[in-house]
Order: sequence, then structure tokens, then C-alpha cells
Amino acid sequence: MQIFKEKAALKRAIRSLKQEGKSVGFVPTMGALHRGHLSLVTQAAAASDTVVVSIFINPTQFDNPEDLNNYPRTLDSDILLLKNLGQNLIIFTPSASELYGNDIKAEHFAFDGLEDEMEGKYRTGHFDGVGTVVKKLFEIVKPDKAFFGEKDYQQLQIIRKLTEKAGLLVEIIGCPIDREENGLARSSRNERLTPELRDEAAFIYQTLLSVRDKFGTESATKINKWVNSEFEKHPALRLEYFEIADNDSLKTAKEKESGKVYRAFIAAYAGEIRLIDNIAL
Ligand code: PAF
Repeated sequence: MQIFKEKAALKRAIRSLKQEGKSVGFVPTMGALHRGHLSLVTQAAAASDTVVVSIFINPTQFDNPEDLNNYPRTLDSDILLLKNLGQNLIIFTPSASELYGNDIKAEHFAFDGLEDEMEGKYRTGHFDGVGTVVKKLFEIVKPDKAFFGEKDYQQLQIIRKLTEKAGLLVEIIGCPIDREENGLARSSRNERLTPELRDEAAFIYQTLLSVRDKFGTESATKINKWVNSEFEKHPALRLEYFEIADNDSLKTAKEKESGKVYRAFIAAYAGEIRLIDNIAL
């Protein structure tokens, strides 16, 4: 396993791997690694000769400075977890100035309206920050394939759009959501939940499973009302939004149209912790 802090040295290492005909898989992360991340790395390793994992808490994608301050920083244990995977890994842990120089600012992107839906409405500038850092990382790593979890499904669609628009030659692979025993989608934020809230938060996935059952026979409007009333009965969780949306454009589904594929999305607060999840319908 090799660890790089500087992009120039990483680029040189990747260039020589490519000259040897090796393929490069890439898993970008913000650290605080959990089993979900490790499963992305394992999938990347199965599909590539070498895997680059970046660990970088990207300041430009946080709309709330407190959220950025509270984001867990666990570099030593992250490195240990990756080492224990026993794969052929390269870790990239740049500083903010290494990636951004002196101007830590997001570029502005148009993702054909994907950025205006759901998370885009509640986290101003978030996807500009994600797009900025992922584009920078892709330009450095030049991966053949990059792996992203479907928990952040809107992010996944946005990164697909980013690569398409920027003409980047990287295949984007979406990986299934990894879940805790009680169904809660794995997230670095779960570590900040009390044991009680962690139990309560299982309700998010249970609700999504019921939505999937109901979707066969009930309208999106009716399901929407049902979800809102269910959350009202669960004061430990505060629903921020529930959406049934087109799987590709992420536009809200008012009526079901035959031949279209839909997905349901939830964002909810458990105490101070914001959680998101989704399910294919
Ligand atoms: O999903 C994440 O952890 C981040 O948004 C990403 C893709 C690493 C960019 O900072």
C-alpha cells in the first residue's frame, strides 16, 4: 500500500502503472470509513488492477460550517482499515491547498436540472462543491472506473452528468447501499447517533420498504401523504423531504407513467443528524 499527499507524485505513480497496462479503479471518500466504503473498495479491486482511495474532507461541499467542523476525522484508523483489506491500494490524502491552491472555492456547474432537485433545494451549493472536487480528483487520478454508493443516488447521477458533459473517459459504477443490521443505510454520520436514535432511524428504511409495496397500487400523491403522516407519529425523526422521482431525471413523479422507472427518496433528521436514503421502486 502506498500513501501520497502530493498530486504530482501520485500522477507519476499512476502514469507508470498505466504504462505497464494496469487499469485504475477509484473510490473517492471523505474518510470516516465504514463497511459501506470498504465494500466500494472491494468492488473496485475486483474490477481493476490497482485501486486509488482518496480521503479528503472537501470544504466546498458543506453548506453548513458546523457540519464541516463536526465531520469525523479518523485518518489513522481509516488507513488501518484499508491496510487490513489486503488489496493493492494507493491512498491519496491531499491537503485543501494541494487540491485547491489558495482559492478554496467551488466552480459553478449546470447538471441539466439534476442539481435543483431534493438535496439541491436543501443544501445550497453542495453539488457545485462535489462537482468541483470530483472533477479535480478525476483529472489527477485519471481512473478507468470510479465507484460511488447508491445511498447518495442524486450525487451519483450528478457525477454521471459531470463526466458526460466534461467528456471525461471514466466509467461511473453505482454500488448498492450497504445497510446496518436494522436496515439503516451505512453512513459516517451514523457514528454520531445515540444508540436510541440509531434504533429509531431504522424507521427510514422500513418506510421506504412500505412505499415500494404501496407503489404497485397507490398514487404517488397518496403515498406522499401517508409517509408524512407516518413521520408525524415518530417525533424522534423529523422528515425533511419525501419524494418519488424519475430514476434518471430525478424530477418529481406526479403521475406514474408506464415504461418509466421510479425511485423513492427520504431525508430526515434524527436529533441533529441528517440522514438520507432511497429505494428503487
Ligand atoms: O460521497 C462523498 O463522500 C463525497 O461527496 C465525495 C464524492 C467523496 C466528494 O467529496
